[in-house]
Amino acid sequence: MNFSTKGEAPETARLIDEELTEWLRGCFRKAFPDCAEAAQAGRVVQNSRPEFGDFQCADSMQLARALHLPPRKIAEQVIAGAAFPGVVAKIEVAGAGFINLTLDDAYVAEKALQGCLLPSIGKECTMVIDYSSPNVAKPMHIGHIRSTVIGCAIDRLHRALGYHVVADNHIGDWGTQFGVIIKGYREFVDKEALAKDATDELERIYVKSYAKAKEDPAWMDACRMETVKLQQGDPENRALWQEFIRLSCHSFDSIFERLGVRFDTTRGESYYQEQLGPMVETLEKAGLAHESEGAMIVDLKEAGLDIAIVRKRDGGFNYTTTDLATVATREKDYHPDKIVYVTDERQQLHFKQFFHISRLLHLVPERCRLEHVWFGLMRLPEGTFSTRQGNVIKLAALLDEAHRRALEVVRRNHPDLPDEEADALAEKVGVGAVKYADLSQDPRTLITFTWDKAMSLEGNSGPYLQYAYARIQSVLEKHRTAFPDDNPAEKPLRLGDPIERSLALQIALFPSAVVKAAETYRPCVLADYLYTLAQSYSSFYQRLPFLKAEDGIRESRIRLCSLVGDVLREGLFLLGIEAPARM
Ligand code: ARG
Repeated sequence: MNFSTKGEAPETARLIDEELTEWLRGCFRKAFPDCAEAAQAGRVVQNSRPEFGDFQCADSMQLARALHLPPRKIAEQVIAGAAFPGVVAKIEVAGAGFINLTLDDAYVAEKALQGCLLPSIGKECTMVIDYSSPNVAKPMHIGHIRSTVIGCAIDRLHRALGYHVVADNHIGDWGTQFGVIIKGYREFVDKEALAKDATDELERIYVKSYAKAKEDPAWMDACRMETVKLQQGDPENRALWQEFIRLSCHSFDSIFERLGVRFDTTRGESYYQEQLGPMVETLEKAGLAHESEGAMIVDLKEAGLDIAIVRKRDGGFNYTTTDLATVATREKDYHPDKIVYVTDERQQLHFKQFFHISRLLHLVPERCRLEHVWFGLMRLPEGTFSTRQGNVIKLAALLDEAHRRALEVVRRNHPDLPDEEADALAEKVGVGAVKYADLSQDPRTLITFTWDKAMSLEGNSGPYLQYAYARIQSVLEKHRTAFPDDNPAEKPLRLGDPIERSLALQIALFPSAVVKAAETYRPCVLADYLYTLAQSYSSFYQRLPFLKAEDGIRESRIRLCSLVGDVLREGLFLLGIEAPARM
């Protein structure tokens, strides 16, 4: 049995909840042909209490006012004579007017067998995703992890659904920070330290120079001058700048490699520098930008978006200007259907402003969606992170610590594993733990990272899911040894026990979870799903015999087991987490 998201989903691989909703909507329409609201009704959600059926629709309650009927009456009329042969086995009205649906066992089994086949909903669509996008000469710190990890998951989710994805690492390689670094570099670079650890040294220089600029206006001016010189093409500043980029990208790459993150292109801000002046002119010609106290601004107060500066008094351009030029180029090069930006919540106003201006200038066609996926800042118990103050926990150090902790677990479980293997395993578990700790939470919440929770083998954690997957692999191995002639892939699924049936239904809902996670840009939807699946599996495993079950049932249970493994592996992959075969 080898289901893979790489295969094309058959026409029949429709999402269960969508299929049910569409059918039930038809029933609402048929029962109340003259009611516009009824034509929109029929949404089903999975029932939290399976004794009431697999899915539930609560829309009759909402229609009571429009139809002047009690909800129960509405529900009864909707279901009178309704049938969905082969899909819905039982349809009932319950409580105040809920419609409960129980699926046909054969349908559940069929859908479970298609569990890993995802619908190609993005087949005709292109998505540009701009994520991670760290700044040159500043180290990546733990605050950057969310953009990288969430962005990578959104990227993989969309690719799996057939989207053509262009992942662009829009690094900050152009801006005022370079004046600060160049000035600082000239004054206090330690060449020996630079040779040893370039990013550390560049960071030290940046922090020191920035602090000095804050106290000393003359230093601040000198930094500004260096920025202007760089932007005007001064050869010495250019050479330094290029060297900083080279050094920084080298260290970013080693982090991306550890995180399993790959970009299709890395066009930094500097790629667009030639377009910044013309962009301001375009804004001016369109009557959108005007001068104010020596700067060029776009007044967006009427739209409730304050003002955006597009050229500073000293002639330097701003973040907004760069993003406007960038979006125009992306439209020209890729004609995307959507462009997704993943950054922390502090940039919300920036994106609202720049999206608004992009629309006013028609830089992208109407159909192209511009989405800012923002997330809350991550904190460690001791507080948030900021490079400027220099109190950063570096991402590399965080991953090293995760690796060290994971190695302890691996060593405990497998004292005899050769060093190299133990190390490779610890990297998968440690990195997976850090990623999952982030992805399992709603992106918009402020998350507090704790090692105990991240590394736990019991709660909702990366290692827990990896462990569940590894245990399944060992069950399958045991089965192969004990019953070498069994061929579960050729035996039908038998869902006689309610635990088996609910596990099969859970497997069948994988495509729905993937689609929802992608469409809402919330990988936590998939994480929640996988955790629930692992829990259902665990009660299935604890309460039903496998190898001791009779012929036919044994193969069916092993097949279910294998399907859960496939879904866990694919699901973890979509979150950017590896699933080692043992742990
Ligand atoms: N370099 C920026 C930062 O570190 C993020 C860039 C996000 N992408 C964009 N197109 N603005 O905050």
